[in-house]
Amino acid sequence: MIIAKSKEELDKALKQLSLKPGKLALIPTMGNLHEGHLSLIKMAKLHSTKTITTIFVNPLQFGKNEDFNEYPRTIETDVEKLKNENCDVLFIPKNKNEMFYEKEKLKKIESGELGKELCGKIRPDHFDGVLTVVYRMFYIINPDIAIFGAKDYQQQILVKRMAKTYFPHLEILTAPIIRSSNGIALSSRNSYLSSDELELASNLFKSLRQSISLYQNGISEEEVIKKAKDFLISKNLIPDYFELRDDILNKIEKGTYNGKKIFLGSVKIGKTTIIDNIEF
Ligand code: PAJ
Repeated sequence: MIIAKSKEELDKALKQLSLKPGKLALIPTMGNLHEGHLSLIKMAKLHSTKTITTIFVNPLQFGKNEDFNEYPRTIETDVEKLKNENCDVLFIPKNKNEMFYEKEKLKKIESGELGKELCGKIRPDHFDGVLTVVYRMFYIINPDIAIFGAKDYQQQILVKRMAKTYFPHLEILTAPIIRSSNGIALSSRNSYLSSDELELASNLFKSLRQSISLYQNGISEEEVIKKAKDFLISKNLIPDYFELRDDILNKIEKGTYNGKKIFLGSVKIGKTTIIDNIEF
């Protein structure tokens, strides 16, 4: 695996990769890699011959009081995991200038109305920061395919919208959520939680499953959501949101939509926010 730490090294690595035939797949991450991240690389391997992973804890997507400094950085074990997955190139900028060089040309991307809803309600500017860095990666790496996880459902919908406008030939794939045995979606931020808290957090997944079952049995959306929030609060989980949307995250007009839907929820345990969703 080639490890590029500067824009110059990245360009060299990309040139080398371009000599190999086939499609190039990009997997953007912030590191502290777990089986969820690795599943994206496995999916990339099914759709492409060349893979590039990025590890960059993007300052633009963290709010002032968020965990940018505490965010787990585990470079050595990440590199080992990527080597095991036969990733071709890892881009791990040694500082933010290697990502955001040529400041005057830095394009800021706005996430629009959807970027202010759901997770955006509690993290203002978060999705603008995500889209700005993802745009930047698409621009400097120019992949054929990029892979995102359904765990961050709103993120992959916003990335797809952005790519449609600026990179119409880029194919964006969404990988299913990888969970631990108690149902909780794997996440780098789970490392902030004790084993008791992780057990508690699994109630978010339970409430999503329960909500689908109630909704499919004819209970109204309002009633289902009230029950879910009451259940979460009874478990000492503070819901930031719990919503039903269609699969591209539009609000659903009552009684008019029969397509795929999704319940999405976010809860706080102490200072840590956990998000999850289930499509049905
Ligand atoms: P990060 O949280 O490191 O996640 C990187 C990718 O892994 C995202 O597409 C995310 O949805 C996916 N992922 C994380 N946990 C997963 C799980 N349990 N199952 C399946 N996929 C999972 O998301 C980001 O980084 C950043 O916002 C980024 C896109 C890199 C931009 O900075």
